[in-house]
Amino acid sequence: MKFAARFRCCLVTLLLAVLAFPLFAADTNAAPRERLRLDFGWKFHPGNEWGSAQSLAKAGTGSGPASTSFGDASWRTVNLPHDWAVELPFDQSADGGHGFKPIGPGFARNNVAWYRRTFDLPEADADRRLWLEFDGVFRDAEVFVNGWHVGHHESGYSSFRYDITDLAVPGGKNVVAVKVDASQFEGWFYEGAGIYRHVWLVKTGPLAIAPDGIFVYSLFKNNVPEGKAEVHAQVRLLNSLTNAVPVTVKCEILAPDGRPVMEFTKLETVNGAAREEVNLDTKLAGPVLWSPESPLLYQLVTTVESNGRVVDRQTTPFGIRTVAFDADRGFLLNGKPYELKGTCNHQDHAGVGAALPDALQSFRIARLKEMGVNAYRTSHNPPTPELLEACDRLGLLVMDENRLLGSDEENLRRWQDQIQRDRNHPSVAIWSIANEEFRTQGTPTGKRVAQTMQNLVRQLDPTRPVTYASPVGNEFEGINSIIEVRGWNYRIGTNRMDAYHAAHPAQPNVGSEQGSTVSTRGIYENDKIRGYVSAYDTNAPEWANLAEEWWGFFAPRAWLAGGFVWTGFDYRGEPTPYAWPCINSHFGVMDTCGFPKDNFYYYQSWWTDRPVLHLLPHWNWPGREGTNIEVDALSNCEEVELFLNGRSLGKKTMPRNSHLAWLVGFEPGTLSARGYNGGKVIAETKVETTGEPAAVQLTPDRTAINADGEDVSVFTVSVTDARGRRVPMATNLVHIELNGPGKIIGVGNGDPSCHEPDVFLPQPVTHSVPLNEGWRWKKLPDVGDAKLAELKANFDDSNWEPANPQADSGPLGERDQAVFRVKIQVTEADLAAQAVALRCGQIHEDGSIYVNGKLAGESHDWQVAATFDLKPFLHPGENTIALTVANWNGAGGLNKGVTLEFLDQAIAPAWQRSVFNGLAQIIVQSTQDPGDIRLTARADGLSPATVSVSAQSCTPRPAAP
Ligand code: GAL
Repeated sequence: MKFAARFRCCLVTLLLAVLAFPLFAADTNAAPRERLRLDFGWKFHPGNEWGSAQSLAKAGTGSGPASTSFGDASWRTVNLPHDWAVELPFDQSADGGHGFKPIGPGFARNNVAWYRRTFDLPEADADRRLWLEFDGVFRDAEVFVNGWHVGHHESGYSSFRYDITDLAVPGGKNVVAVKVDASQFEGWFYEGAGIYRHVWLVKTGPLAIAPDGIFVYSLFKNNVPEGKAEVHAQVRLLNSLTNAVPVTVKCEILAPDGRPVMEFTKLETVNGAAREEVNLDTKLAGPVLWSPESPLLYQLVTTVESNGRVVDRQTTPFGIRTVAFDADRGFLLNGKPYELKGTCNHQDHAGVGAALPDALQSFRIARLKEMGVNAYRTSHNPPTPELLEACDRLGLLVMDENRLLGSDEENLRRWQDQIQRDRNHPSVAIWSIANEEFRTQGTPTGKRVAQTMQNLVRQLDPTRPVTYASPVGNEFEGINSIIEVRGWNYRIGTNRMDAYHAAHPAQPNVGSEQGSTVSTRGIYENDKIRGYVSAYDTNAPEWANLAEEWWGFFAPRAWLAGGFVWTGFDYRGEPTPYAWPCINSHFGVMDTCGFPKDNFYYYQSWWTDRPVLHLLPHWNWPGREGTNIEVDALSNCEEVELFLNGRSLGKKTMPRNSHLAWLVGFEPGTLSARGYNGGKVIAETKVETTGEPAAVQLTPDRTAINADGEDVSVFTVSVTDARGRRVPMATNLVHIELNGPGKIIGVGNGDPSCHEPDVFLPQPVTHSVPLNEGWRWKKLPDVGDAKLAELKANFDDSNWEPANPQADSGPLGERDQAVFRVKIQVTEADLAAQAVALRCGQIHEDGSIYVNGKLAGESHDWQVAATFDLKPFLHPGENTIALTVANWNGAGGLNKGVTLEFLDQAIAPAWQRSVFNGLAQIIVQSTQDPGDIRLTARADGLSPATVSVSAQSCTPRPAAP
């Protein structure tokens, strides 16, 4: 992906026209670019019986699953995104930081898995360039295409792509195989395992826009959006033709309402076999500005024409806005001070682990925005591109963070890829080079590395500053001394932040990571045994701070740009302050499902303009009658009055950025509150003592979703009393049943100590039959001809030698060739299996298998067992299997046992989940069939709930066949 201009741009460039609107929309000649989802129908196999599957001696000789003819029919079918770590049971002996999943160092049995996907390419693709793009694989991916090793990508967080043009088979079947190895951690938090983001197949013409080849940005005089916006478009072209070609690059800007507003064009000549950059610019009057509150997106339609033909066209959404960090005024959006009210987040969610469907990104962003959040830090790694698309569309500013500090070639290449991938997103407001590099941050080396990374940003992006998430106080050593924006992880206080600001008044400051307040949803007493922490804002580890402490410090200081809470959502791993039985963090303002904890309302009070009034705790305290209980009001009202069963307990004035508290002797009934502004009631709320659990309720976040196999509806399960009030301590086990065109992809409940499975898998039913009897064999001079009579079903082999496929080696000597034959009887019932595989312990060396005379597969690696899919070739009755073997070295043949393996219909899983403090979550995904998806939830002794969402016909995103 690295851009290197191999030849100097030549000939004259001519800026043709900068036109004012109205203009014509981009012409509609079909452009030969396609971007196809490659998410559906992967075959997945946990484990690795094939070593590296890569021969270093000869090219294109991937073996086992890496070879084209490998039989994977008995493997599980999965759709991406997919995370196999979430499927594993919890294990106390595993790493708690990673969520007690038995994966990573010490868990070799679970660390490696294979994915395979077969896809067809039409003949017409012979003239195209083909790219395979991975948004992210955790981690250490070896990628093979048609038996060729095309790449090794280590990082589990960065995107990568391979040009597979030369290896692809147009007009035929193609196989991509990926070996994923999650043995090593990259972070100290849950990271998932597998192809947990999307995969794409991109097709372009031979002369096309290069991958990540468009950068569109706007500049204003003094970085204040007054007057016209200067819009710059950098277009990198890739010419795979051997001759130089003339091109016209046409950029058309469509306004947020879709109207074409501007067109600008440039002529260029691109050398043969070269990459060239074409720079275009224009001025746009009266631009509509992007902001989190008004996330309006322009589109740049870039059309490349050559010799009168459209050879490529790409649409790039972008936003027009300015960002700046000012040492005195904090963060400036569109020239005005704008306080960052952000959350840091890891990328996992309840139920699905790290493999989030795109709609779940939107779901999470919606929850954050409801809380008043306007910014998101992608801690501590590059995000999936779909998160940034959602932030652009829904309106969140982003601190886009790199994984590891480093200025070596590999790290810089990744950093460059990240910037080039993400720099069109208006949501991205600042780059973060790294987080808390304790050993190196204060050293001269750390400083040099950071400077090199920052310099690279200056080359690639003239619009955004750079920060580093620094966990030190008033220290100006190393990275802090050169970084454009000082990031503060914790360390608030006058002798730290104020003193630092006084000593370095020219450096802007942002709260890159604050809070780390710990709390459990719906729990009001610390409980070390069960691993729960009180949800009053009273607990934070020694390095961290309470919500009210950090926000109370930041809010009045205009020079601070605002900050990012650690974290918006709980995430798996890093259980703090307790270890096992906790399997996830307590830092979230929301739990892993996105259910709000009480602090949610603290932030909502001070981060939104809406009247907010929230009371805690719940009011179910049987046995504590007469005992004093602290009742807190979280509110932005000027005054709050509390009532118990209608009696006023007094009105209090709300201190800014704080909360109010009363001590109330418990009596069952209703605790209520009124919020006043200017003496008038503007908000009311109540908390009631509920009855026993009586019913299950189901509430989908969306009642209509797209029948595209990707969209999801997120159901809330609540357990209520007979009057429909959520029972705040309910823990009932809920059984879930789905009917219709949908599937459950994960369940959760936000309980940090719950060890119930998040995913229930179909249980495969298999049976194996040894196939070691009845084989005969015969040497032949050359078995390379598929038309040999000896391979046919009706050939008479009765006078051939019997063969023993259970032997360890032989019977062929060096350079011998032979055919091995056996007949098998197959019933209709056998053929009802989903897959029938033939597993040969060893074929030494080159083998081809024929079933009833038809070629069913090949094997070229004696070191690994060979598996072939037989089902497509079998019929009821007698079938003939003939195997040709050409042995080159030592003793060879068909050895180490042969089995027939039948994969029968899997047993569908029964899904269930307990509610935690009355709530659980079910994530339901559409298939590609429209219709009603009916979900039923039942719990013993409670009345059940059935709710439907409608999966509606739509045009799914184009997908590879
Ligand atoms: C920070 C760190 C985060 C997380 C957090 C917990 O120091 O950057 O990744 O570990 O502490 O409080």
